[in-house]
Formats: sequence, structure tokens, C-alpha cells
Amino acid sequence: MFPYKTSFQLLRNLNTPLYLQLSNQFIELIKSHKIPPETKLPSSRSLSELLGVHRKTVVACYDELMLQGWVDSIPKKGTYVKASLPILTQQEFLEEDSVLSNEANFKFSKNENFNKKRVNTDESWVLVDDGISDVRLTPLKDIARTYRRLCDRKRTIKSLSYGETFGSGKLRKVLASYLNKTRGLQYTEENILITRGSQMGIFLASKLLLEKDDIIVVGETNYIAADVTFSERTDRILRVPVDEDGIKTDDLEQLCKRKQIKAVYVTSHHHHPTTVTLSAERRIHLLNLAKEYRFAIVEDDYDYDFNYNHAPILPLASHDTQGNVVYIGSICKTVAPVFRIGYLIGPKDFVEEASRVRRYVDRQGDALLELTFADFIESGDLDRHIKKTLKTYQQRRDFFCEQFQQELCDYFEFDIPKGGMAVWVKLKSPYTWKEVSEVAKKYKLELGEWQRYDVSRTGHNAIRIGFASKNEEEIEELVMCFKKTFQEISLKTSSVKSFVR
Ligand SMILES: Cc1ncc(COP(=O)(O)O)c(C=O)c1O
Repeated sequence: MFPYKTSFQLLRNLNTPLYLQLSNQFIELIKSHKIPPETKLPSSRSLSELLGVHRKTVVACYDELMLQGWVDSIPKKGTYVKASLPILTQQEFLEEDSVLSNEANFKFSKNENFNKKRVNTDESWVLVDDGISDVRLTPLKDIARTYRRLCDRKRTIKSLSYGETFGSGKLRKVLASYLNKTRGLQYTEENILITRGSQMGIFLASKLLLEKDDIIVVGETNYIAADVTFSERTDRILRVPVDEDGIKTDDLEQLCKRKQIKAVYVTSHHHHPTTVTLSAERRIHLLNLAKEYRFAIVEDDYDYDFNYNHAPILPLASHDTQGNVVYIGSICKTVAPVFRIGYLIGPKDFVEEASRVRRYVDRQGDALLELTFADFIESGDLDRHIKKTLKTYQQRRDFFCEQFQQELCDYFEFDIPKGGMAVWVKLKSPYTWKEVSEVAKKYKLELGEWQRYDVSRTGHNAIRIGFASKNEEEIEELVMCFKKTFQEISLKTSSVKSFVR
């Protein structure tokens, strides 16, 4: 007889219940054929006595084994290990095979433009971001309280099942009223698809608007993630210059006369990356061109809430009477990037189609989070949060610009941005971002994706440096790291010069 008494080791101080410890050890013994197929297992009474456990523990263990298909219980006869077991023999894993798992043994398409850079998460480094909110200011407790209150409501249970791909009806209604009131839009909830953030909106718009040889026009230079998204659909991304009034619509008009344009992508509030605002005159011009040449305007209003010098400028979408604008936004910048809630707004037929396409990538959004944010907006909590952060970010912008002007004006030049979360910082000649980013590493300063707008590609020699995510102490630390970096570069340059002399 199998030595049951000595073959099991049951520990009462583990989190795993005794019956599961017992069944897991039984499974190992059955898999290894130490208890062979068709063996009759001891009765629950005798095994419980042998092991010194309650009989109910053994009964629960046998039930578990039966549920998992390892044993059969035959009435009046007893419990037997199954005659044939579907045991998968795991292949032995050899060290030299490990490299194989890095490469697929099949073909798949790759887009070389996709960002492969790993994010530096080492907290002892100073990281330059390109304009994100300070997540420490997130009203997490208020959001959690709203979420909990929602979970306590009986009717919330309905939201746990599959729901609308369009997103929560309540959030769509609340958003329609909120955006109509605050941004002068004139949409109903039927014009709104809730997305997982602005990026999903850009993706859906791109998928619906662009076929292989279609032309999309963007600013020179443009938000790189949008460029990459469009490049998935078409090779014909045409660029028109951007100056201090935003994208040059006269140049766009010339282009429209020569070519058939399918869409124009704009970050009208604060052009990404240069942060300038599209002037009122050009807004009207752009809308008129869209009407005349029948193209779509994809308006990415990613940081509408953050204006420091004036009230926010109303979006192009608020003047769209012809159904030319697809308006995209999110709360990811306003509250925190982790809350993946955004919206794509536009003509009803377009939004319906976008919802159909979205369904096959992402059946629906997070209904509970959507309801939470519907309450959060309705209660005025979102507005209170915006007011608070706006004040903080304005102080940080001013402090950042002061410090950079005072301490780093020999190396950098920039205009004070009227809004947003980043400054477009130009590097003075003869410095290069490549060199700066390499030397900066010595001082634990990570410049991130400085290549995005590199001079060799775009002619700019500038990067975005975010100020909103850093408090004054952190801004001072950033300035200090840059100072040390430039001192070292200058020292190297002067010693090379004296050597040449
Ligand atoms: C111009 C622009 N559009 C869209 C996004 C994506 O935002 P979201 O987090 O809402 O997807 C970003 C993010 O940085 C952005 O800068």
C-alpha cells in the first residue's frame, strides 16, 4: 500500500487551506505516477485518521481532485485515480534554448517608427519629460471615494456586464453638457464615443479617414506619436510650416489647390511640440478651407485646461457648422495619465463607425471608471481640481522660466509658453542635444527622447522640457544638472581649442 502517512506535508500556518495543500500534493503524486492510474484512494475516514486532519478536509480534497478531473468517485465502491490522464509532459528547458524565446518563429509586420526606447524609472535620476501632469496632485482619495460610493449602489451591479462600446451613457451625457458649457460645443451624447485616452481617438480617426494613398497634412514639426499613427495607414504625410500663430493656413491653401487632402491634424490650443496657439484668423481660415475642400480636421485638444495668460480659446469644433471637425481629448493630462478616459467627438455617422472599429480592438471601456468620472465631473470635483492645479502649474512655469533665464541663458533660448505643461527649449549653437544628453548622464540627468525633434530631422535643435510635473526644488535640481553638464562641455571645448593652438 502507498505510504500515505509519510507522503504529505501539511502546514497549518500557510495561507493555502489544508484541503488545497493536500489536493496539490495528490496531483503531484498522480502526475509522477507514484500513485498510478486506477489506484483506489483510502476512504476519507481512514485518510483523515492517518494524516491527523478533519474528515471534512479529505472530503473537500477529493471533491477538488474530482472537479479537476484527476479522480472518479464510484458510488458504493470508493474514489479511484482516473485510468487515463491528460498529463502534459513539460519539455525540459535548456539554457541554450532561452534565446529562442526572444524571436518569434513566424512572420509579423513591424513598424520601425514605433518607439523602442525604454523609460528610465530610476528614482535617483532627474528625468526630463515632455509635459505631463504632477501625479502627486491627483485627487486620488476623492476619486476612490466616488468609486466606492458607486460600488455601494445596488444598480451599479448592472454595469459589471458587457456594456455599450460607445462608453457609459451617463458619462456621454455629462460630458456633452460639460463640454458644451465650458468649450462652446454644440453636441449631444450621440456625437460622443468614450475612448481610452486621446491616443485611441487619434488611432480611430486615422483608421477611418486614411486609405493607402490618402494625404494627411500636419504641422512641421508635429506630435510624433500622431505621425507614427498616421504612417501606419499612409505614406503621404505632408507638412506645412508652423510659426508663432500656429500652422500656416496660407500654405495649406496652396496645397489644397494642387492636391486632394483627406485630413488635417492640428493641436490648435498649444501646438505640439512648439506650444504656440493657432490664431483666431487662421482658425477661421482652416475651417473655411475644410468646408470648401471637404477634408476632415482632426483637432487634438490634449491640454485645453491649462492656460495661464488668458481664458482658454474655444476649439475649432465649437465653430464647426458643417461637420468637418473630429474633436479629440481626454482627462489623462488633466487628472492623471493612468485614468484612461478620453473622447472622440464628431458627426454622428463618423462616431458610430468609430465605435464599430473600436469594438474589435477593445470591446468597451472601463464602465465603473467611466461612471466614477461622470460623478466626478457632475459634482464639480473636476473643476475644483483644475483650478487648483492651474495655479500650481502657472507658478511652476514662472519659476522654471525665471531659473532657466537666469542660470542657463548662455545655452538655451525659449519663449514663455502661454499654456500647457512644457517649454519648447532651443539649444544655442554650437551645442548639440546628442552631446548634452551624453554628458548629462554623468550627472544623472536623463533627457529622454531628445531625438524626437532632432535638428538633423526637423531643423529645430529644440526639445520640450516639462515644468508641470516638478516642484520648485526639483526644478532647481534640474537647472543644477544642466549647469554642471554645460560646464563640463565648455571645459572640454576650451581644452580642445588650446590644444589646437
Ligand atoms: C499632443 C498629444 N496628443 C495626444 C496625447 C495622448 O494623450 P492620452 O494620454 O490622452 O492618450 C499626448 C500625450 O502626451 C499628446 O501630447
